[in-house]
Amino acid sequence: MNNFAGFSSALGNLSRTAMTRTAKEFPPMSRARGLCSEGSKTVPGTTAARPAIERTSVLKDGREATVRRLEPREVGALASFHAKRMQFADLFAHKELSERAVRNHFLAHETPGEDALAAIVADKVVGTATIEAQPLEMELPIDGHILAAKGMKESEVCVGRMMVDPDFRGIGVGRALKEAQLVAAADSGYKAVAGLTHSAALKHVVRTLGGSVQEGMGQTWTVVRCDGPGPAPEKT
Ligand SMILES: CC(C)(COP(=O)(O)OP(=O)(O)OC[C@H]1O[C@@H](n2cnc3c(N)ncnc32)[C@H](O)[C@@H]1OP(=O)(O)O)[C@@H](O)C(=O)NCCC(=O)NCCS
Repeated sequence: MNNFAGFSSALGNLSRTAMTRTAKEFPPMSRARGLCSEGSKTVPGTTAARPAIERTSVLKDGREATVRRLEPREVGALASFHAKRMQFADLFAHKELSERAVRNHFLAHETPGEDALAAIVADKVVGTATIEAQPLEMELPIDGHILAAKGMKESEVCVGRMMVDPDFRGIGVGRALKEAQLVAAADSGYKAVAGLTHSAALKHVVRTLGGSVQEGMGQTWTVVRCDGPGPAPEKT
């Protein structure tokens, strides 16, 4: 069994068993370096070492949150987050989708153009933020006019998603994740992060970061530059 096969197999186990597996059952992430594939998704080449991201902020309730990449040994904490999420987010009410989210989170660390971060409060995963390539190929593609109007090519923009545990919302975790997501996107060579949202809180964060909130393809999109405020936020 090659190194990646070991990693892939370990993640595959996650979908077939309860999400309470101990971290020691998962091989070190470094063993997976050099090949990034899952099913039909294959990215050739190797991933360059990514700069570490570790951002700690004091939340509005006085607790500290750290946003960083998870270690493979922390897979249980991530699984608990997604398992809880199944109980309140319709989109993830399906067990297999939730388990896939855990697998994809770790695979994103190894896939060029992708990344995944977690917000941790007292050793508990309370939120995640991810970036993905190809915003025009999402299940709900971004309106190409939005990118064109900003003079951006698809390859310069990633899709950002984020989710905070409802018990930890409203205290600053979402803002911390968004800021770290922009750092991760810049580290991957993107100029901006686009996202689909209905959240008033996220729209507020986007605007205060100099981003824009726009309608397109019947959805509400946010676009935030990674290199600081772009043009003045547009009125919606
Ligand atoms: C969107 C989400 C990530 C925000 O997370 P959060 O931890 O609650 O966000 P924060 O506590 O950092 O609050 C962010 C800001 O929004 C503000 N805010 C909260 N509710 C608001 C509202 N209804 N209207 C306007 N602003 C609001 C907060 O005051 C805060 O502002 P500040 O940083 O200037 O003080 C979270 O609500 C969530 O997971 N939602 C479900 C998933 C989702 O919609 N994801 C986004 C699309 S992928």
